[in-house]
Amino acid sequence: MIENKKTASIVVGLFASMAALAAVAQTSAITFRNTITGEVLDFNDALPEGRDTPGVKQFLATGKNPYNEDPSCLKTGEQTFLSACSGCHGHLGEGKIGPGLNDSYWTYPQNETDEGLFSTIYGGAQASMGPQYVNLSLDEMLQVMAWVRHLFKEEPEKAVWYTPEQRKKFKPYAGHETFPDDSPGLCRTKSK
Ligand code: HEC
Repeated sequence: MIENKKTASIVVGLFASMAALAAVAQTSAITFRNTITGEVLDFNDALPEGRDTPGVKQFLATGKNPYNEDPSCLKTGEQTFLSACSGCHGHLGEGKIGPGLNDSYWTYPQNETDEGLFSTIYGGAQASMGPQYVNLSLDEMLQVMAWVRHLFKEEPEKAVWYTPEQRKKFKPYAGHETFPDDSPGLCRTKSK
């Protein structure tokens, strides 16, 4: 009996220290770096609105975009893409004065991760690819990223940014898709 209690308290202790470790892992969020300079990105520069939505918090802790393939976010993401990106990258992300964003070739290979794509959008790259933190909130960046991913035109297996589940369901973008205003999802309440 005493032995059992002892074992039980060791087990409880173990769980407690595992929980403490998990807590540290969660607060020590990923370090995001500028795509060109490698400097650490400073999120104090971000626009005040849309910087601590649940989606942004989750993304900063995991580096995975929770808005990928969420219909409510695709709708707002498309709108932002058409106003902030398509002038340079083309309506379908096919490339114009800026490179194509809808295929698996990246000038900066880290853009094939959500973490890398976000860093390029937030901090910019070369030439006319300026930092977008001056125009877009962190939340809008995640929305626009989900749309960029959705525009992908190659085989789903190459869409490495998706979860295995999402990859299985994904179809190369065929053009013209509409999302009802009341599409369920994480972005529904904040669509403007
Ligand atoms: C004024 C024109 C312009 C606008 C607006 C613009 N971009 Fe760019 N973008 C460029 C150019 C030019 C490059 C190439 C820069 C380089 O090679 O360093 C680029 C590069 C990129 C890259 C890197 C691609 C790769 O192959 O690695 C990504 C990702 C990107 N842009 C996303 C976006 C998104 C998303 C938006 C909208 C929020 C946006 N851009 C708005 C001009 C623009």
